[in-house]
Amino acid sequence: MSPLFLIFLLHIITGAATQLRTGYYSGACPKAECIVRDVMKRALMREPRSLASVMRLQFHDCFVNGCDASLLLDDTPTMLGEKLALANINSLRSYEVVDEAKESLEKVCPGVVSCADIIIMASRDAVALTGGPDWEVKLGRLDSLKASQEASDNIMPSPRANATFLIDLFGKFNLSVKDLVALSGSHSIGKARCFSIMFRLYNQSGTGRPDPTIEPLFREKLDKLCPSNVDQNMTGDLDATPVLFDNQYFKDLVSGRGFLNSDQTLFTFPQTRSFVRQFSTYRGKFFKAFVKGMIKMGDLQIKQPGEVRRNCRVVNAL
Ligand code: HEM
Ligand SMILES: *[C@@H]1O[C@H](CO)[C@@H](O)[C@H](O)[C@H]1NC(C)=O
Ligand SMILES: *[C@@H]1O[C@H](CO)[C@@H](O)[C@H](O)[C@H]1NC(C)=O
Ligand SMILES: *[C@@H]1O[C@H](CO)[C@@H](O)[C@H](O)[C@H]1NC(C)=O
Ligand SMILES: *[C@@H]1O[C@H](CO)[C@@H](O)[C@H](O)[C@H]1NC(C)=O
Repeated sequence: MSPLFLIFLLHIITGAATQLRTGYYSGACPKAECIVRDVMKRALMREPRSLASVMRLQFHDCFVNGCDASLLLDDTPTMLGEKLALANINSLRSYEVVDEAKESLEKVCPGVVSCADIIIMASRDAVALTGGPDWEVKLGRLDSLKASQEASDNIMPSPRANATFLIDLFGKFNLSVKDLVALSGSHSIGKARCFSIMFRLYNQSGTGRPDPTIEPLFREKLDKLCPSNVDQNMTGDLDATPVLFDNQYFKDLVSGRGFLNSDQTLFTFPQTRSFVRQFSTYRGKFFKAFVKGMIKMGDLQIKQPGEVRRNCRVVNAL
């Protein structure tokens, strides 16, 4: 291929970071949003947890070079993908649900709906189908041509993180303290591994002791779920109602029953505590702030070449 042609090609595929808008596919693929919702409904019947797992993909995609489906690219001989990054390996799951949505969409309107938009639609549907709010999503994203495992490793927070650190991290993405607390409410659904809480059960901050902010009866329960010699892939519920999107997560935090350190810290630290209290009392305020946060997170984009992938796991062949 001549260098000139390459420049031309780059020119036409550049211009991602486009204006996102609601109803973006109403002309080219009017059924797009229905198709994704149907796939999510089927996923709910097969395995309720998969909705939480899909929703989590939005966070792990959008924080790493914007919402561009870079997360979904498999490793190639020349590129390490993000799926094996520290925060994702043995943890992110349900990629096959996104594949199913993509296949259904390709049958009806080939080459039209981006994988990045599928993640955004499916995340919204996951919340709506588990009892949470429903909202209009802005669409029109393009899929990236590359991924960055290194960027993911540098950015995605550890379950050990404290509120100060998280406020700072979310601030880098123009997300407010309120956005941080509301978005953490996504842990109203889904599960986490013992791996993510062993340190807080047995050696918080290297003290050789458990995290003192865990309510004693809840700690007994966690100790039973995750004894020190446990298979650390064992999982526990992130809140007391793990298949219902509600404000139980915040009630749990108020009573010292947060699962992850990064959850409980939101009640321990004064900067975030008032929002936790507010959301624990007013479900409607949580829902409203959550939707606002998801939309802001979905707006994260960088200027880079893009395309509509035919298969979410690989870039289109030139
Ligand atoms: C505030 C910083 C956050 C931290 C430190 C964090 C960390 C984690 C960790 C450690 C897990 C369990 C992983 C495992 O043990 O395999 C998890 C699960 C989950 N996270 Fe987060 N998370 C954060 C924010 C978010 C956000 C913003 C969202 C989405 C909007 C989200 C959605 C989820 C969901 C739905 C699950 C359960 C997934 C499943 O059951 O497969 N998290 N998170
Ligand atoms: C919060 O975490 C950061 C980064 O790990 C650490 O430097 C800081 O001392 C912690 N803050 C408190 C008050 O524990
Ligand atoms: C945050 O907002 C500032 C000012 O509006 C803008 O310059 C910056 O690019 C934004 N950062 C991100 C990550 O969106
Ligand atoms: C606890 O963590 C500290 C520092 O991370 C480490 O030096 C120590 O050996 C750990 N103790 C136990 C009992 O694992
Ligand atoms: C969890 O399972 C995976 C794959 O089966 C394995 O590679 C990994 O080492 C396990 N992780 C832990 C913390 O036990």
